[in-house]
Amino acid sequence: MAQFTIPGLTDKQGVRLTELLQKQLSTYNDLHLTLKHVHWNVVGPNFIGVHEMLDPQVKTVREYADEVAERIAALGGSPEGTPGAIVRDRTWDDYSIGRDCVQSHLAALDLVYTGVIEDLRKSIEETEELDPVTQDLLIGHAGQLEQYQWFVRAHLESAGGSLTHEGASSEKDAASSARDQS
Ligand SMILES: [Fe+2]
Repeated sequence: MAQFTIPGLTDKQGVRLTELLQKQLSTYNDLHLTLKHVHWNVVGPNFIGVHEMLDPQVKTVREYADEVAERIAALGGSPEGTPGAIVRDRTWDDYSIGRDCVQSHLAALDLVYTGVIEDLRKSIEETEELDPVTQDLLIGHAGQLEQYQWFVRAHLESAGGSLTHEGASSEKDAASSARDQS
């Protein structure tokens, strides 16, 4: 239990914000590790472009993890950054693609970004009333992550604007439809 929280917030608000930010911390820790996993496992034509595109994304997401962790501490909570916390907090499965071509990984990563951004937007909605300062932090993250998802999608988009893995609901399905069309 926190002994203090940010001035102007009730203890209850502080606790709810801490829960919401802990989920976000585990999301970011999972995401930067997943991005590195893709960086290491991507192969084939266009390898270097994608391999190098991912490192700035890793760096940014690690910074976002740091920002939300420090806000948890400022709220009087204790940020949990361990692998066990990631596994406990996540509502999704481990990334499921190993060594594979650029198109497969990017299609799977598109689904990863969709999950992350959908959850982030729910937290942005909830913080509207709860705490505009936390909301402002999360809005900044959303804008950048949405741009990163576009970087990923632009590799999978036809001149007509459709995506190679349209309608795929799992990473493996997305990867195989993208692979077939490459
Ligand atoms: Fe590297």
